[in-house]
Amino acid sequence: RQRIFSGIQPTGIMTLGNYLGAIKNWVALQDEYDCVYSVVNMHAITVRQDPKALRENTLAALALVMACGIDPEKSVLFIQSHVKTHAELSWVLSCNTQFGELSRMTQFKDKSAKHPENVNAGLFTYPVLMAADILLYQADLVPVGIDQKQHLELARNIAQRFNGVYGNVFTLPDGYIPKLAAKVMSLQEPTKKMSKSDDNPKAFIGILDKPETIVKKFRSAVTDSEAEVVCREGKDGINNLLAIYSAVTGRDFPAIEAEFAGRGYGDFKTAVGEAVAETLRPVREQFDRYMADKAFLEECYRKGAARAEAISQRTLDKVYKKIGFLAK
Ligand code: TYM
Repeated sequence: RQRIFSGIQPTGIMTLGNYLGAIKNWVALQDEYDCVYSVVNMHAITVRQDPKALRENTLAALALVMACGIDPEKSVLFIQSHVKTHAELSWVLSCNTQFGELSRMTQFKDKSAKHPENVNAGLFTYPVLMAADILLYQADLVPVGIDQKQHLELARNIAQRFNGVYGNVFTLPDGYIPKLAAKVMSLQEPTKKMSKSDDNPKAFIGILDKPETIVKKFRSAVTDSEAEVVCREGKDGINNLLAIYSAVTGRDFPAIEAEFAGRGYGDFKTAVGEAVAETLRPVREQFDRYMADKAFLEECYRKGAARAEAISQRTLDKVYKKIGFLAK
């Protein structure tokens, strides 16, 4: 079977973007692939984190991923810092990655412009750690939203170059980017990505938002001054709502456009809000159940770490041998 790897940062609120762009696909791929999923807390510290909040958010992210449908028996689910191979391979790969390559990463440019007070070396080498995550598990496919595409291409380039120098060690990973909702947009500024760090909470839907809140946020979503529910260039708000509605209901655009023909935006926005609220309702309920059973969550992440370590150590051993590190 083919291998899948993906990760999510435990940095507070998870959004509908994380759900539709990534986690929903992680769940769908579980039965057909060997899946490895991680709560990547080592990536999270590239931005200053409050230690207590990071600890809580890490456990909450694990519970949330499980509440979305990741089965820790079927898939390997672990917390990144529990598996030391990630830091170890990351160092080796960083010595095989050029400064110029990392300088071209748009996320680094964006984040360093946003946090000029903390442009740390980890923020710069973040994509190397991400490459290590993926390559340690010999992943064939990496399900992510479109914002991770450039990082993924870098991981592939690093793997290819490494294989060229040292012989075949790494599987070359491909992205698995959904056709719909690969970039869920802000509900308030639909030309911008939906992001949890948006100052305006009406701009994003939290996976754990209450159903009433979700409907309310969709009702106040920014659209345009026309009144036609159709997908067309320039109708960014409506296009975004169409993609969200289609992703949660499984219906295609023509069917949705026909349903709302002549009905105006109010009805449409309410329908999208209700459909999203219904999709997320069981996730929220399941999340509360998991969070009430910390002992079970601990058992899950311990087992997950042991499984992840066993798989990734094999790759790391191979790498150390290839590059000339003397065996213990
Ligand atoms: P992160 O934690 O920012 O986001 C997790 C996943 O959610 C997707 N996503 C979105 N998809 C659609 N629309 C949006 N508005 C939206 N916002 C977020 C992201 O594309 C991602 O798939 N660097 C990664 C974490 C990571 C990783 C990895 C991923 C670390 N190592 C190895 C894959 C493989 C990140 O910051 O994701």
